[in-house]
Amino acid sequence: MKNKVLIPIFIAAFSLMSFNALALDHEFVGAQKCALCHKKPEQGEQYRIWQESRHAKAFETLGTPEAKKIAAERGIEDPQKSGECLKCHSTAYYFTPEKVTDAIRVEEGVSCETCHGPGKDYMKKSIMEDLDAAKEAGLIIPDENTCVKCHNQESPNFVPFDFKEKWEKIKHPIAA
Ligand code: HEC
Ligand code: HEC
Ligand code: HEC
Ligand code: HEC
Repeated sequence: MKNKVLIPIFIAAFSLMSFNALALDHEFVGAQKCALCHKKPEQGEQYRIWQESRHAKAFETLGTPEAKKIAAERGIEDPQKSGECLKCHSTAYYFTPEKVTDAIRVEEGVSCETCHGPGKDYMKKSIMEDLDAAKEAGLIIPDENTCVKCHNQESPNFVPFDFKEKWEKIKHPIAA
């Protein structure tokens, strides 16, 4: 009985650890840098789509009365300063607090590099145009497994996560 519970927990903890370690070989640049190319209509305006999504407001949300109430119930004074909230509501913190810099401030919320990995080494045009080279340089092609690292029961506001339905709300395809 005990093992049935513990083994999946170990596997989950380990996969998260190794994923974080790999990502941390690279530096974050911030969504403004991705926007240089990914705000263009011919590219698909991924930046605008993200800005209009709740992910872009994830830090702001931690400043609301509702957030403060949730935090107070957990003995947290300021959710915008607490790792217990920031780890799912901001990009660098999600990997490790040490990676928060002026390039990737907590104010940016849950931005491109949360899901696609730190971008400094893959954001060059020549590398971006070559998917294998981009992955080699740290680009992550995310899927449902990425989402549920935050959309899970550890979230104080957890609502059951339906990937297809939620992806529909934030999808940002390359223009045809
Ligand atoms: C210099 C321009 C440029 C910058 C800066 C840039 N990209 Fe790209 N990106 C491209 C191009 C070009 C492609 C190739 C696809 C296409 O033709 O639209 C691409 C493709 C991608 C893809 C799709 C890969 C695939 O084939 O499935 C992702 C994901 C992506 N970029 C994320 C990012 C992120 C995140 C950042 C910021 C860290 C970023 N890009 C910065 C130009 C850029
Ligand atoms: C780093 C943590 C994190 C990851 C990874 C993440 N999200 Fe979120 N997501 C959040 C937070 C935090 C909010 C709430 C933001 C707010 O309201 O201020 C949110 C809100 C949303 C919302 C709007 C609210 C809702 O439930 O309809 C959608 C849609 C969503 N996420 C889809 C996704 C999808 C799809 C993925 C994976 C491709 C994903 N998210 C990955 C943290 C994350
Ligand atoms: C495990 C990841 C995770 C943690 C930790 C987390 N959140 Fe969230 N939070 C989310 C996600 C994901 C959403 C979007 C709702 C959903 O789909 O679950 C969200 C949404 C919210 C919302 C908006 C609710 C709404 O629907 O309008 C508030 C407020 C909030 N979180 C506050 C907090 C506070 C305060 C903390 C720290 C005590 C915290 N969260 C910690 C993932 C997390
Ligand atoms: C919450 C997670 C999440 C965030 C935030 C996010 N993406 Fe994505 N992105 C995805 C997923 C999931 C896919 C689909 C991967 C696949 O299966 O091809 C994707 C696909 C893409 C693609 C390829 C689209 C295609 O048609 O193949 C590009 C380009 C891209 N993202 C750029 C960005 C940029 C730029 C930002 C920030 C402005 C961003 N993404 C933010 C999760 C995210």
